[in-house]
Amino acid sequence: MGKAYANAIAFLFFATCISSCLDVASGRSVAKPNKFMVVGHVYCDTCRVEFETKISQPIIGAIVKLECRNRTDESLTYESPEITTGSLGAYIIEVKGDYQDSDCEVGLVKSPRADCNDLTEDWRKARVVLTSLDGVSGNIRYANNIGFKKKVALPECTKVLTEMGYYELRDELGSEADA
Ligand SMILES: *[C@@H]1O[C@H](CO)[C@@H](O)[C@H](O)[C@H]1NC(C)=O
Repeated sequence: MGKAYANAIAFLFFATCISSCLDVASGRSVAKPNKFMVVGHVYCDTCRVEFETKISQPIIGAIVKLECRNRTDESLTYESPEITTGSLGAYIIEVKGDYQDSDCEVGLVKSPRADCNDLTEDWRKARVVLTSLDGVSGNIRYANNIGFKKKVALPECTKVLTEMGYYELRDELGSEADA
């Protein structure tokens, strides 16, 4: 899994290099309108905790979509086609243009898994910055991983979450909230 993921990242850099090298070779101006590659992956939240654990599962064939909305009036300024995740649940969305005055986010549209298709409003979206005018450089923009909740948590979850210190943290936060 770790190795495969590293390979996927290496491939992305390679693919990006190819496209920029071709631009140079064909004499196209490098100062052309921005093109971003939004990269992320979709997982099944097998413990229903709204974050990834080591027993989360990548979802291949999930559908995601990127939308940008005008920050002032919330009108749609960009909408990507629906993109299907590939191996390791990874997706790449190519976006042309600069969206400095928009809020852009990748959202889940559909899960291919009947046992793992629960959308939860707040965390099913990953915000990405799609402008080069605010100091973030590079054309690859990593979106936080987004997940569908499994209908029923796996039995191993208690053990995995205990190892992660989840219950202690939850108790601590709970008592802080009470104080
Ligand atoms: C966003 O909305 C405001 C108010 O309607 C408008 O003035 C502005 O031009 C819009 N910006 C973009 C990028 O569409």
